[in-house]
Amino acid sequence: MCGIVGYVGKRDVVSVLFKGLTNLEYRGYDSAGMALRDDGEIKIYKTLGKLINLKNELEARKSELKHPTSGIGHIRWATHGSPSLVNAHPHTCSCGKLVIVHNGIIENYKELREELLKKGCTFRSQTDTETIAHLVADEYASAKNLETAVRNSVKKLQGAYAVCVMHKDVPDVIVGARKHAPMLVALGEDENFIASDTPAIIEYTKKTIYLEDNEIAVVTKDRVRITDIEGNEIIKKVEILPWEPAALSKQGYKHFMLKEIHEQPDVIRNVLNGKLYDIDSPIILNEVKIDKEILKKLNKIQIIACGTSLHAALSGKYLIEDFAGISVDVEASSEYIYRKTTTDESTLVIGVSQSGETADTITAIKQAKAKNSHVLIITNRPDSNMARLADSLIPVNAGIEVSVAATKSYSAQLISFYLLAIHLAEIKGTLNKEYLKSIKHELIKLPSKIEEVLSNVEPIKTCAKKFSSYKNFIFISRGINLSTAYEGALKLKEISYINATGYAAGELKHGPIAMLDETMPVLAILIPGGITYEKILSNCEEAKARNAKLIALTSSNDKNLESIFDVVIRIPEINEIISPAITCVPLQLLAYYIAEYLGKDVDQPRNLAKSVTVE
Ligand code: G6P
Repeated sequence: MCGIVGYVGKRDVVSVLFKGLTNLEYRGYDSAGMALRDDGEIKIYKTLGKLINLKNELEARKSELKHPTSGIGHIRWATHGSPSLVNAHPHTCSCGKLVIVHNGIIENYKELREELLKKGCTFRSQTDTETIAHLVADEYASAKNLETAVRNSVKKLQGAYAVCVMHKDVPDVIVGARKHAPMLVALGEDENFIASDTPAIIEYTKKTIYLEDNEIAVVTKDRVRITDIEGNEIIKKVEILPWEPAALSKQGYKHFMLKEIHEQPDVIRNVLNGKLYDIDSPIILNEVKIDKEILKKLNKIQIIACGTSLHAALSGKYLIEDFAGISVDVEASSEYIYRKTTTDESTLVIGVSQSGETADTITAIKQAKAKNSHVLIITNRPDSNMARLADSLIPVNAGIEVSVAATKSYSAQLISFYLLAIHLAEIKGTLNKEYLKSIKHELIKLPSKIEEVLSNVEPIKTCAKKFSSYKNFIFISRGINLSTAYEGALKLKEISYINATGYAAGELKHGPIAMLDETMPVLAILIPGGITYEKILSNCEEAKARNAKLIALTSSNDKNLESIFDVVIRIPEINEIISPAITCVPLQLLAYYIAEYLGKDVDQPRNLAKSVTVE
């Protein structure tokens, strides 16, 4: 959600904070702000809208700054209080000496606010964050120590928070604290950093310490002290980040999304590397830390995820049931956490998340752990909170994904599910050898087939141009590609704001067909050779009879398709069961080019955040 970065040290503080916020802009972008310690004062700068506005503001007012020595910065994705200048962070206490930035939601802020109002605090914003500023200032008045004041304050907070606090009377000290929201400290020479995520600091250091819930960090230029909620000092492990700063550059592409779409062949090679050697060898998935005898008897899996990861999970269900014959439920984390589930110690619970920080999924995972289930996490961030909760961890190694719309991480999750489903099938002996070989063969060929798609984007661009003015879309398919239809529709919605729905093709006639006419294009994913092709074709004929414009995404060479469909997008020949790993790519490109034609902000679509760390 919101992004936080704090810095104390020798470098140009404004540049460090600005660079850090730029690399966190995927987390939120309705307003931004900085508090800088300069010449004995704390100076605050805030602007509405994207980060560039803050840059311009700082540029215009740079004569006000002498030599800032520390600072905290924030990029906001509004939860409490509309996006406005007054609600932008940093927030201050009544006298303005204490400044704070916050990510999360304080659930008891109204009660705390009432108490603080009675004590004479002056509130200026509608945010829950401002309450923390007054609370810490109130505690500081008696404790006279910023660390203690923060500790006493966070004990009173309910909800989720990652906060950074500075005080005018405590020069060049940043106090950070977290609960249910990510925060890390990064170490340099004569400088230290604090941030909500690693991209904020990767340009400067790879040495990081991840804070756990209820830990408090006091960060100065040459020291980092971490304590628990009772004030006991903790010696934490320093981890070395695996990312390179180059991962955060567009490398010549117009948008991160386009770059990330094009990275998919290599991402898939990466995921397969070390796990799938050749068609004759079994899949090696040592990451699954469950005894083989237990896996043989496993008969219940639940997969929980949100957004795009949920769509990968739906493919995972199909694959595990098809290959290994194990019954799988898939549920949105936000639903799972508010009902009585049948999760128990014999259930394998799989959490899927690009960021590893999605609050709903983290809560769901914690609930599953409380029921003694084995928790397997599939994530792109082995350094995340979710990864730390895992009993088994499959890192998908897609590299940092910057664009808000997930693309390469989806492919990587999908391939991880193929490997897991085959692995389970091999342990259970549910697939015959020849079939296993053919699937592995297709998986090995996948990257080059995707390269073929990526080297011929013109038909997709043309289709995007032709359909960019339509206001509604339906994406249909059946079987293994139904989740691809959901994902294709989600991509289009997310970045072009066109109303798009993914629908089971056979369900079209049970309701949605009522909406079909020449203004509602129907995109069908249909792969020959399997069990669904002819059926989907019939569903398309039904749509055509209602004057709907038809787009086919297919590996068929049948020239007759041109007489049924207005546009045919062709992909290389592929086995139906493996096809979602290819069909997702033209759909990502279609969404991308439509958004481009419409002039939308592809990498940072309105109202969205890449990592949703509040429930
Ligand atoms: C947000 C993002 C989506 C993402 C979802 C789940 O809503 O905008 O793109 O799919 O969160 O995120 P996760 O990191 O758990 O996969």
